[in-house]
Amino acid sequence: MHCLKKITDNLTWVGGNDRRLAMFEGVYSVPDGVSYNSYLMMDEKTVLFDTVDKAVSRVFFENLTEVLGERTLDYLVVHHMEPDHSFTLEEVVLRYPNLKIICNAKILTMIKQFFDFDIDSRAIIVKEGDEISVGKHQLKFYMAPMVHWPEVMMTYESTDGILFSADAFGCFGALNGAIFADEVDFQQNYMGEARRYYANIIGKYGAQVQAVLKKIVPLEIRLLCPLHGFVWRKDIDIYIEKYDRWSSYTPEEEGVVIAYASIYGNTENAAEILASRLWDIGIKAIMFDVSVTHASDIITAAFRYSHLVFASTTYNNGIFVSMEALIFDIVAHNLQNRTVAIIENGSWAPNSGKLIRAELEKCKNMNILENQVSIKSTLKKQQLAELDAIVDAIAMTLK
Ligand code: FEO
Repeated sequence: MHCLKKITDNLTWVGGNDRRLAMFEGVYSVPDGVSYNSYLMMDEKTVLFDTVDKAVSRVFFENLTEVLGERTLDYLVVHHMEPDHSFTLEEVVLRYPNLKIICNAKILTMIKQFFDFDIDSRAIIVKEGDEISVGKHQLKFYMAPMVHWPEVMMTYESTDGILFSADAFGCFGALNGAIFADEVDFQQNYMGEARRYYANIIGKYGAQVQAVLKKIVPLEIRLLCPLHGFVWRKDIDIYIEKYDRWSSYTPEEEGVVIAYASIYGNTENAAEILASRLWDIGIKAIMFDVSVTHASDIITAAFRYSHLVFASTTYNNGIFVSMEALIFDIVAHNLQNRTVAIIENGSWAPNSGKLIRAELEKCKNMNILENQVSIKSTLKKQQLAELDAIVDAIAMTLK
C-alpha cells in the first residue's frame, strides 16, 4: 500500500518519488528529490499514461495493481521514451500481455531501440490530431517534438479538460504528500525549481515550446498533468505565461547576473566592486562564483534576469575552466536577448575576454557591450572609470 493520489474520480496518480537521487540525468542536483508521474484512467477501457524510472518501479507496480483491482490494463499511452518515464515499460507489457500501446511512429522506433519485446503486434500508431475514445473520455494527440526529445507527444482529454503534457510544465522536487500545485506555496517554494528544470532540461528548445504553446493555448485545460512535479488545476494560465516567457527568451525581471571565475580573489574583487556600484544606483546584482555554483544554477538565473556580466581570469591562455564550461553551456542552451558585459584578467596575457565574446556571439540577439575591462593581476584605481563605464552602459539599457 502506497501513496495514491486521486486527480479526478477516474484518474489516479500512480507514480513514485525518488529522494535519494544525487544527480538527475547525471547533471542536475535534485536536493529535494524528483517525482516520476504516471497516471491511470479507469473508464470502459483502463489507460495508463506513461510509466516510471527504475528507482520507483516497485511502488509504481504496487500502485498500479492497487487501482486496477480485478481489472486488466487495456492501453498504455507513451508520450516520451526517455528512460525516466519508460524504464518500466517492458515490465508493464510482461504483466499485461494483451495491452495495446498508443504511441507515434518515432516512439515506436525508440521502443525498438530500448527494448526487444514484440511491439508491432500491440502498437496503435497515432499522429497529430488523431482521437481515440476509451469510454466517456476522449483522447486527442498532439505532437511536441523536441520538448524535450524528438518523439515527444502530448494527450488532451476533452471530457475533463486534461492535458498530459510530458516533460513540459514539470518541476524538480519530490511530491511530499500534496499532488496539486495550489496545495503548496508554489510561487514561493517551487517556482525556482520549475525555472531550473525548464532552463536546463527544455531551455534549448524555445522555438519548439512556442510551437506547442500555439497548439495547447486554445484548448480548455482544466487539469495539467506533467511527468514531473505537481498537477495544476488552478492558475494554469500563469504557468503557461511563464513558459511563454522562458521559451521566447524574454527576461522575467531586470537585474544583473555577475558570474566570476577568480583563482586568488582579484577578479572576484572587481566583480564585487561592479556589483556594489550597480546596487548604489538601485540596480539589482547577483554574484555567482562559477567554481562554487553549478553552471545549471547560473543558467537558471540567466534565464530569469536581463543582464549578464562574465568576469574571468585567463587560464592556459584560455577561459578559466569552470567559466568555460558555463559559457559553453549557455551557448548550448540557446540563451538569447540579453545584454552582456565582460571583464577579463591575466597576469601576463589577458585573453579570456576575447574568447568569451567570440563564444557568446554565437547566441542570437545578444547585446555584448563594447566596454570591456582588462585587468592585469589586480584592478587599479584608475580602472574604476572603466567599471563605471560598464555600470553606465548597463543602466542605459534598463527601463
Ligand atoms: Fe523526464 Fe525528458 O524526461
